[in-house]
Amino acid sequence: MREGNSKTSFAPLANAAALPTSSAWRADGALKDEDRMRVSAPRSSSKKNPELMRLYQSVREASARLGAPLSEADATVQSMPDASPAKWHLAHTTWFFERMILEPNLAGYGVFDRAFNFLFNSYYESIGPRQARARRGMITRPALETIIAYRDHVDRAMASLLEDDLSPGVAALIELGCNHEQQHQELLLTDILHVFAQNPLYPAYRDPGPIAVGRTDDSPPSYRKFDGGVVEVGHVGQGFAFDCEGPRHRALIEPFELADRLITNAEWMDFMADGGYRTPLLWLSAGWATAQSEGWSAPLYWERRDERYWSMTLRGAQPVDPAAPVCHVSYFEADAFATWARRRLPTEFEWEHAAASEPIGGNFVESGRLRPAPAQAGEPGLRQIYGDVWEWTRSAFSPYPRFHPAEGAVGEYNGKFMCGQFVLRGGSCTTPQSHMRASYRNFFPPDARWQFSGLRLAGDL
Ligand SMILES: [Fe+2]
Repeated sequence: MREGNSKTSFAPLANAAALPTSSAWRADGALKDEDRMRVSAPRSSSKKNPELMRLYQSVREASARLGAPLSEADATVQSMPDASPAKWHLAHTTWFFERMILEPNLAGYGVFDRAFNFLFNSYYESIGPRQARARRGMITRPALETIIAYRDHVDRAMASLLEDDLSPGVAALIELGCNHEQQHQELLLTDILHVFAQNPLYPAYRDPGPIAVGRTDDSPPSYRKFDGGVVEVGHVGQGFAFDCEGPRHRALIEPFELADRLITNAEWMDFMADGGYRTPLLWLSAGWATAQSEGWSAPLYWERRDERYWSMTLRGAQPVDPAAPVCHVSYFEADAFATWARRRLPTEFEWEHAAASEPIGGNFVESGRLRPAPAQAGEPGLRQIYGDVWEWTRSAFSPYPRFHPAEGAVGEYNGKFMCGQFVLRGGSCTTPQSHMRASYRNFFPPDARWQFSGLRLAGDL
C-alpha cells in the first residue's frame, strides 16, 4: 500500500469552513438546522482528482448526517459485543483514512492523537494492539465533540492530499476507505437500532410518521426458472469492488427456480403458528441448539402486545406489517423456514446469476424509509432483489479460485474472515445504493440476527 507515496505537503483545505465542524453539533448532540444544510452544501473541488474528491466528501457528509440525530450518550453506549457505538464508527472510519492513507502518503501530516491508534483500530493485527471489541462502549472519552474535530482534521488533510497527483495505489486506497465508511454507515444504523431496542422507551431514530407503501401485493410469490450450466460469477468491469468479490470465475449451477419476492412477515407468522420454532426436525443441529439456548420464538425485536406483533424499528416500535419482508432473522432461522416451506435458500452463485441482469434500485438508505417495504404489485422481474433486506444464501463465505489477499494491513480486510460465516446478498434499507452491485458479498455468522437480514426462497428443477 506504500507503493505510490505521494510527497504532498500538508495544507489546510481552502474552504475548510464549508466542512462540518464540531460546532455543528449542539450540546445535546443533535445537529442544528442551519448546520444540517451546511453538511449537505456543495464542497470544494479538486482539479487533480475531481471524482475521488466528490466521492470522499459525499461519503463523509453522509456519515455526519447519520450521526446528527444522536446524543452524546446515544453515540457512546454499546448494547452488545457485536454492536459498536456510533461514536466508535465515526472515529474508526476516520482512523482508517489517517492510518492507511495519510500517515504513509501525506508528507508533514500531523497525527491527531496517537492514542486513537489503540482506541479505533478494529481488527488489524499487523497494526498493533487495540481496545477489545466488547469494550468499545467504555470509551466515554474522548467526547463526541473531539471525534467530530478528529473528522474535521482528517477531512482537511485528505482534501490536501486529493489536490496532488495520486498514484493508482493511493487512489485505490482512498476509494477503499470510502467504501469502508459506507459499510460502517450501515453498521451505525444497525447498531443504534439495537441500542434503542434495549431502551424501555423505544426511542425512534427517525420520525415514526406514516410511510406510503403504494399498491401492496399479498399474492403468493411466483418462481422464475433458470437453466443450469457453467456461468461466470464475480466482479466484472472498471468500478470498485472488494477483494473478496473476485477473481471472476466459472461456476457450475444446476437448473433452479427463484422466488420473485422476499418472504413476508405474514408468511413468517404462518411458520410460527405451525410450530416452526418448536419443531427440531426443521432445524440444523447448531441452529436448534442456538434457538433453544437463546429462547428464540420470533424474529429479533418482535414483541406480542394486544393480540398482535410489534417490532422495534429505526422509527420506533411499530406494528409488524404482514406484507413487509421479514427482517432480523438469522441464517439458522432462514434455513428452518425454507425447510418448513419445502424449499431451500439459494446459493450465492444462483443469486448472482439471477440478479446480474436486474437494475440496481430499490429501497436503500436514500429512500429514508429505514424499514423494509412490501413488494409492489405489477413490478416486473425479481422484486426486492436489491435493497429492503440482505438475503441469506446457503453459501459459506470462502475464497474464490485464485483469490489472494492484498499485501499489507488491508490484506486483513476480508480474507481472514473466510471461516464460519455465510454470504448475504443484495443490500438492505440501510445500505447506500451506490454501495451495491450484483457481485457484492456480505457475510455474517449463522446466528447473527441484528442485521437487516431476511430471505428469498429457491428450489431445484
Ligand atoms: Fe472497519
